[in-house]
Amino acid sequence: MNVILLGPPGAGKGTQAKRLTARFGIPQLSTGDILRKAAADGTPLGKKAKALMDAGKLVPDEIVNGIIDEALASGQAAKGFLLDGFPRTVPQATALDEMVQRRGTRIDRVVVLEVPTEVLVERLSGRATCPRCQTSYGKDSPPKRPGICDNDGEKLVVRPDDMPDRVRQRMLEYESKTALLTGYYKARGVVRPVNGVGTVDEVEKRIVQALQ
Ligand code: AP5
Ligand code: MG
Repeated sequence: MNVILLGPPGAGKGTQAKRLTARFGIPQLSTGDILRKAAADGTPLGKKAKALMDAGKLVPDEIVNGIIDEALASGQAAKGFLLDGFPRTVPQATALDEMVQRRGTRIDRVVVLEVPTEVLVERLSGRATCPRCQTSYGKDSPPKRPGICDNDGEKLVVRPDDMPDRVRQRMLEYESKTALLTGYYKARGVVRPVNGVGTVDEVEKRIVQALQ
């Protein structure tokens, strides 16, 4: 099963992708997580991406297209994948079509997580993230020990792009470049809007239903 999780910043894409990965045994391919790791490792790619990410702007299509093509080529997604944060522009969506067609497969579902802006702003202002495994914690899902990741004991950080002005910039990028992808996929009958408000368990149940 090949799934795209679409939704604005803070919609819960990463939180739900981690749940769905555990449930279905297919990997989460998150361009944001991969880019943050590259930035933390100080690779040339990471250095190039970091300034744009910290400013809340999209990194160039060819960079993220290359990341996803490489991940698909690695064989980790042989049984399917959950895309979190990709595609984000029409050129990325067309590049993805070419990548999946080349491999004789297709996109089965596009889950669109719908959450009102005021809830997104509230969630992002309360988020702490593990720099190692990229798990997000929030007011509704705090870590067992304050400031420490449950999975690996790493000290949690606030993402630079969670500052209020950067959040505004990310929302603008989403509205102007990403939201229209729902229309891009609509004619294929694969789009499933899902209410992203409620507990993490409730939203997970709705997504599982939408995938059936
Ligand atoms: P990316 O990392 O993809 O960030 P994003 O899309 O802005 O989304 P977030 O990760 O902030 O939110 P999320 O939907 O994953 O929510 P989460 O589960 O954490 O991208 C970052 C940057 O990388 C981009 O700005 C760009 O620069 C670059 N980039 C990445 N991909 C790119 C691409 N394809 N093209 C170009 N550039 C790209 O949840 C948020 C919070 O809410 C958490 O605190 C969580 O605990 C909480 N929460 C989750 N669910 C619930 C719930 N049901 N109830 C209450 N709280 C909840
Ligand atoms: Mg995320």
